[in-house]
Amino acid sequence: MTQKEFQRRRRHLMDLMGEQSVAILPAAPVRYRNRDVEYPYRQDSDFYYLTGFPEPEAVMVLVPGRAHGEYILFCREKDEKMEIWHGKRAGQEGAVAEYGADDSFPIDDIDDILPGLLEDKTRVFHTMGAHPDFDQRVIGWVNRLRKLARAGIHTPGEFISLDHHLHEMRLFKSAAELKAMRKAADISIQAHIRAMQACRPGLKEYQIAAELNYVFQREGAAGPAYESIVGGGANACVLHYVTNRDTLRKGDLLLIDAGAEYDYYAADISRTFPVSGKFSRAQRSLYDLVLEAQQAAIEAVKPGNHWNDPHDAAVRVLTEGMVKLGLLKGAVKTLIEKEKYRRFYMHRTGHWLGMDVHDVGDYKVDDEWRVLEPGMVLTIEPGLYVAGGDPKVPKKFWNTGIRIEDDVLVTKDGCEVLTEGAPKAPADIEAVMAG
Ligand code: GLY
Ligand code: MN
Ligand code: MN
Repeated sequence: MTQKEFQRRRRHLMDLMGEQSVAILPAAPVRYRNRDVEYPYRQDSDFYYLTGFPEPEAVMVLVPGRAHGEYILFCREKDEKMEIWHGKRAGQEGAVAEYGADDSFPIDDIDDILPGLLEDKTRVFHTMGAHPDFDQRVIGWVNRLRKLARAGIHTPGEFISLDHHLHEMRLFKSAAELKAMRKAADISIQAHIRAMQACRPGLKEYQIAAELNYVFQREGAAGPAYESIVGGGANACVLHYVTNRDTLRKGDLLLIDAGAEYDYYAADISRTFPVSGKFSRAQRSLYDLVLEAQQAAIEAVKPGNHWNDPHDAAVRVLTEGMVKLGLLKGAVKTLIEKEKYRRFYMHRTGHWLGMDVHDVGDYKVDDEWRVLEPGMVLTIEPGLYVAGGDPKVPKKFWNTGIRIEDDVLVTKDGCEVLTEGAPKAPADIEAVMAG
């Protein structure tokens, strides 16, 4: 991502905020895994989206119209000793020269400087509620200023959540963002193909996870965008199964839900395939149904359609198919109205995708499902999950979990499947596994 891209985003946000406003946004804190051991640092998505600044202990302030510079970055000072242990810091000079700040101050001076930036402003945009400690500090800065009211200084009276403007911006992906998302998708496709090729009975689920991680890292991804799900047999019916410790058995299906994060953007792909390399007939009948539902849902992704149209399309195909296969009994219309399909399909058909795997952006506007528009990216991920044990459910389907998930960009006249390259037609999967 270039500095120009970040600058364009800040400009856009400031235009939406208007004058008399200030935006305040903190960097993600360092988090500890256990004594002295930190989790790998990942910058807050909102903060990174606007700054491109990768360090912790920083605060971005935007003051539209400020004569001495509209973009102020508070960050750590350079520190030779600390940099020997932990690596380079931008410092105030770097914040300006490398990250495009108009002005930069040491983070330790923020209590003295920030109240002054709020002087005579009306509105404060901040991440209300997201970081309770930080909210307290914002209130503290405003209170400091209030004490000066007798000197004729105005204090801001409106506190507005940054989410609305900022998340609406993040929902529509720019060309630069799509480039990163395509790269995340391509790496994830390679990883799924490698997993299919490596799979054989007797391996452990974590050994397949290792194949995924190998490709992610080899191709320059930050790592998985979320914990990879590698679930064989009955484990595939646990929606958020991340234990990944069991042995893969001949005759079972393997469900993998895994995607890379590349340059802060996520891919999110699920594929389901036979451990032995060949689908059984019962597996095929369920698999073909999920694939048909996915295709129907993808066809419903186009400008003008509503957010829920792909879900409705998937639910209709799945419910009709479940009746034909003997998983459900009754009239399709009633089964849908009474949500009886939820016994075997209990999640929704997708979510927004971007810097966060479950990305920001409203799904409804004024209580109505929102209309799909070019530049939005969403997942399409129908599934069927048949746990074992119920004698009323045909035994041949027991312990079978299937999900097929792709990442889909809404285009001017329809959609583009960014993750098309990951095999999902049964013949293609069997060919990749045999080859
Ligand atoms: N991998 C998380 C999801 O599919 O939503
Ligand atoms: Mn997903
Ligand atoms: Mn997924």
